[in-house]
Amino acid sequence: MYSEKVMDHFQNPRNVGEIEDASGVGTVGNAKCGDIMRIFLDIDEEGRIVEAKFKTFGCGAAVAASSMATELIKGKTIEEALQVTNKAVMEALDGLPPVKVHCSLLAEEAIHAALWDYAEKHGIVIKGLNKPKSDIHEEEDASGIL
Ligand code: FES
Repeated sequence: MYSEKVMDHFQNPRNVGEIEDASGVGTVGNAKCGDIMRIFLDIDEEGRIVEAKFKTFGCGAAVAASSMATELIKGKTIEEALQVTNKAVMEALDGLPPVKVHCSLLAEEAIHAALWDYAEKHGIVIKGLNKPKSDIHEEEDASGIL
């Protein structure tokens, strides 16, 4: 049912953890399954993502998708990171079963939410970036879980 890559990233997830004083943090959730994903980004002055970490309270596919997504965006510019869609994450994982497609969408949204947070903190507008719908605000916080 799952590809070897999914199993690998689920069992040995890359980039688990938090970044202190991150340039941008995005937390998103899926109301149906209740899974929550948080991505931390460290972005340098040239707008390059030098570090990406994640914490995911969710299913195995969500863990694998966060692991792969953080791997894919590391070293990329913000513009390039915006191209890392859920499709790109799924392709890099050699596919996900249809019922697990939304898990990869969570990864895309978490990246966007973290970039949105970065843009807000720096008073800039990132072309082509919209506020993710499933963004969870600090007030409604998920930190009790993550
Ligand atoms: Fe919802 Fe995987 S089942 S994120």
